[in-house]
Amino acid sequence: IRDVEKSWDAEVRELARTLPKEEGWISGTSLYLYQGFWCTPLEIKTLISFQTHFQALDSDVLVATFPKCGTTWLKALTFSTLYRHQFAMDENPLLSFTPHQLVRFLELDVYMNNPCPDLNNICVYKPRLVGTHIPYASLPASIKDSNCKIVYICRNPMDMFISLWLFTCKLQDKIQAPPSLDEAFDKFCRGIHHVGPFFDHVLGYWKTSQENPNKILFLKYEDLKEDISCQLKHLAMFLGVPFTEDEEKRGVVEEIAKICSFEKLKEVEVNKQGSSIMGIPNESFFRKAKVGDWSNHLTPVMVERMDKLIQQKLENSGLTF
Ligand code: A3P
Repeated sequence: IRDVEKSWDAEVRELARTLPKEEGWISGTSLYLYQGFWCTPLEIKTLISFQTHFQALDSDVLVATFPKCGTTWLKALTFSTLYRHQFAMDENPLLSFTPHQLVRFLELDVYMNNPCPDLNNICVYKPRLVGTHIPYASLPASIKDSNCKIVYICRNPMDMFISLWLFTCKLQDKIQAPPSLDEAFDKFCRGIHHVGPFFDHVLGYWKTSQENPNKILFLKYEDLKEDISCQLKHLAMFLGVPFTEDEEKRGVVEEIAKICSFEKLKEVEVNKQGSSIMGIPNESFFRKAKVGDWSNHLTPVMVERMDKLIQQKLENSGLTF
């Protein structure tokens, strides 16, 4: 990540000079507050290309997520549901490619490699399915103005935070120390983390999903964990490809749930080695996948601070965790 950061060009460097700056979670990196969220200079560059060149089609589907909220899972589920008629389930491409290769990130992958890519070529299956961590407010106008659909997943902030902190610690090299739990927690509470503040991100998608439920399907990681079949049926309905009675009888819903499960995907060879985005090891997207793991890491003082933050940020929003 540090190497990629070096490649940002003079124009973005000039822009970054005018922006609020903080030390990133990975030592030696910086985060800049751009369009109301914290991101790397390279992302500013790719976001500008994304905002300038991306032309949404009414048939497009966007998997939008906050990092560590279940992106990998939702990509796998959406891919398998949307394209289920295009391959036999025992030949599901998820058995040979990572979810991030099949549903590519726009700002972290596609536009990083090419400022003006041909998405019709990049998305092998149709309708086009792509991913992003960009907040709703910063999505290109054509996504908001077209009939394209967005599926969003969020997660209890305490679990999301622990997942992000452990993920960052794993990415940190052996030369510099990873951020301490205290340090990372304080930054998280102040909203200083990749594409943070978390609550602004979640509320941006939440409010739009409330105003326009046909545009955004707002999912929660915990609900998927509790009843994946029920959530998969919602997802299929929202995508306009509801499961037929015959499919339900044949157990297609359960089949998709199984192939996308943590236990299955974690053991797929391609997810155990190599890297698909920004040099991040594929295996680091699969850790524990438990609800409530925060209780093994956060101190009572941290829990109290987070509880207050959740209450304050979500007050009157109708959203609960
Ligand atoms: P933990 O760190 O709590 O284990 P993202 O995909 O947004 O980066 O999120 C990663 C989190 O989702 C990690 O959580 C990871 O273990 C979990 N995860 C990955 N694949 C999953 C799956 N198929 N089902 C459920 N959770 C999954």
